Amino acid sequence: MTHNAGGRMKRILVTGACGQIGSELTTTLRDRYGRENVIATDIRMPANEQLRDGGPFEFLDCVDPHHITRVMQIHGVDTIFHLAAILSAVGEAKPNQAWQVNMVGLYNMLEAARQYHCALFVPSSIGAFGPSTPKEKTPQDTVQRPTTMYGVTKVAGELLCDYYNRRFRTDTRGVRFPGLISYETEPGGGTTDYAVEIFFEALRHKRYTCYLREDSSLDMMYMPDAISAMIDLMEADPARLVHRNAFNVTAFSFTPAQIAEEICKHIPDFTIDYKVDPVRQEIADSWPDSLDDSAAREEWDWKPRYSFEAMVEEMLQRIAQRLERPAEQKIR
Ligand code: NAD
Ligand code: SER
Repeated sequence: MTHNAGGRMKRILVTGACGQIGSELTTTLRDRYGRENVIATDIRMPANEQLRDGGPFEFLDCVDPHHITRVMQIHGVDTIFHLAAILSAVGEAKPNQAWQVNMVGLYNMLEAARQYHCALFVPSSIGAFGPSTPKEKTPQDTVQRPTTMYGVTKVAGELLCDYYNRRFRTDTRGVRFPGLISYETEPGGGTTDYAVEIFFEALRHKRYTCYLREDSSLDMMYMPDAISAMIDLMEADPARLVHRNAFNVTAFSFTPAQIAEEICKHIPDFTIDYKVDPVRQEIADSWPDSLDDSAAREEWDWKPRYSFEAMVEEMLQRIAQRLERPAEQKIR
């Protein structure tokens, strides 16, 4: 028996809810499942008013199993979105912390999901691939020998989720996200963060200095599609799912030069220059150029809505609106 098959999410816990994904996922889940039924948790207080006042919030450090037990017992959770993690660039600066949060934290959440019979969503990443992975149309099932601590924890996490599903029938599900582009919450220290920063700098200063080389191609996705992917996968019929814990998903791939060119269509005097950070460049060079996401399309009808061009246009519009508000001008 699998527990709480998709479509029956009633009491939902989000870890890492103050982050780039969690802040937007929590709001969407509250709109869909009721504000009292979505418990946001993190080790920092939400800066975002909507997140802070829009429903229950609990302090939860995923490395400490006592925190998890307490929150699970109070709230009667049946579904967990486990988003607490250390991202790739910060993970290279602090590998010990990345191991603790990404592995010990994940193990604790899997144990909670097993003991309390919860469905569990865990995001993996393009970071789960490495330099020996085929770069073009990276297959769903292929070589995974990453060279970062982040990548090591992501591959191990995929395997651990598979193990809990096979051994304990825990309803684990997940996707390998590409770089995510959004304007609500700052990204948390990844290699793909440039693809968010560039919009703010284009609108503020009409110029951007990029830390990746101009020809570094990476998969990316706009946040509304990422949120849909998570909810659609958790609501999908479990009988159709073969690749439960690590579906490749993507929307488009581009290089820094290509996104700069697209921004120039809206801000003609925008300019980009390059000051390469060797650490993040090496990480980017080890990741795929473009993913094959046909397994997700076949098994749960994954399909992104936003094209590259539509994403750029909307990002510029939304950030321009935000920057007109005086309080927002201090954020970045
Ligand atoms: P983020 O860094 O923006 O947010 C992570 C959150 O986790 C933060 O709010 C942080 O305070 C919290 N956190 C850190 N340590 C914690 C701990 N010990 N206990 C509880 N909370 C803790 O990250 P994100 O971009 O929202 O990513 C969420 C997940 O999605 C991660 O697993 C990440 O690897 C994955 N992912 C993200 C992207 C992306 O581009 N954003 C791409 C691929 C995969
Ligand atoms: N955006 C994430 C990072 O760069 C990809 O997992 O770390």
